[in-house]
Amino acid sequence: MSAAPTGAPGARVIVLGGTSEIALAIVRELQRRAPREVALVGRDPEGLTAAAEELRTAGCSRVLTLQLDALETDRHEEILGRAFDELGGGDVVVLAVGVLGERGGLPTDAAAATDVLRVNVVGAGSMLIGAARRLRDGGGGSLVVLSSVAAERPRRANAVYGASKSALDALAQSLGDDLRDDGVRVLVVRPGFVRTRMTQGLDPAPLSTDPDTVARVAADGIDSGARIVWAPPALRWLMLVVRMLPGPIFRRLRQ
Ligand SMILES: NC(=O)c1ccc[n+]([C@@H]2O[C@H](COP(=O)([O-])OP(=O)(O)OC[C@H]3O[C@@H](n4cnc5c(N)ncnc54)[C@H](OP(=O)(O)O)[C@@H]3O)[C@@H](O)[C@H]2O)c1
Repeated sequence: MSAAPTGAPGARVIVLGGTSEIALAIVRELQRRAPREVALVGRDPEGLTAAAEELRTAGCSRVLTLQLDALETDRHEEILGRAFDELGGGDVVVLAVGVLGERGGLPTDAAAATDVLRVNVVGAGSMLIGAARRLRDGGGGSLVVLSSVAAERPRRANAVYGASKSALDALAQSLGDDLRDDGVRVLVVRPGFVRTRMTQGLDPAPLSTDPDTVARVAADGIDSGARIVWAPPALRWLMLVVRMLPGPIFRRLRQ
């Protein structure tokens, strides 16, 4: 069965990581293109309430909120089910759950590093699988996964976060290939440095961007049925060069 047409009036959007600045920009961009009803799923009830209000102001006719921590994997199926059921189904799911953690190579805090892996790989991975199943069972839809350029080649400057995003990126691509014929289109979004609270206080990397730019790239990717997009788009070519750099040169990079 083919995917529900994105841009269709009344398209239902479910956001996992419902307070994410990038995810909220994506929903605003989708709403700008066509009316949306939204379910925001996240761990912080107050943050979700504020995010829901922001989306209502942006024109979303209906915004629900559901509380869920990515680490509570035993509740994922129930809460995802409620999000889909209460909206009357889902056309677009945006998976934005993620934490940056400590940057650099060998972590100074092993427990905190393990938490990053738990949230970004186990928690987000469980949500990805659950959302993919729901979309398939509902006849199709678009699943937008916020990966990162950090997923593309292991880097000493970003060892744990990069590894976690590589795992999620790989899972998203494989599920996308597996479910394409079922009408589920998985869009892997690889932003570079985006100015949000996640990167607050960090020195911007080359081609740094803002959530609205990522949102336009993601919405265009949904509409075109793309499998992978980079934000800003020029990063695609920069990362091609980075991927091809010989090891001895690449390993000298500190950023
Ligand atoms: N900003 C960048 O430069 C950048 C670049 C590439 C990729 N990304 C990815 O884009 C996504 C969104 O990032 P952002 O920039 O929009 O940052 P953000 O505003 O900090 O969004 C991160 C989201 O993850 C949620 N989250 C974290 N831990 C969670 C947990 N245990 N359970 C449930 N939710 C949890 C946060 O919820 P709370 O509000 O409760 O903390 C928030 O909704 C992330 O996956 C990030 O890795 C960001």
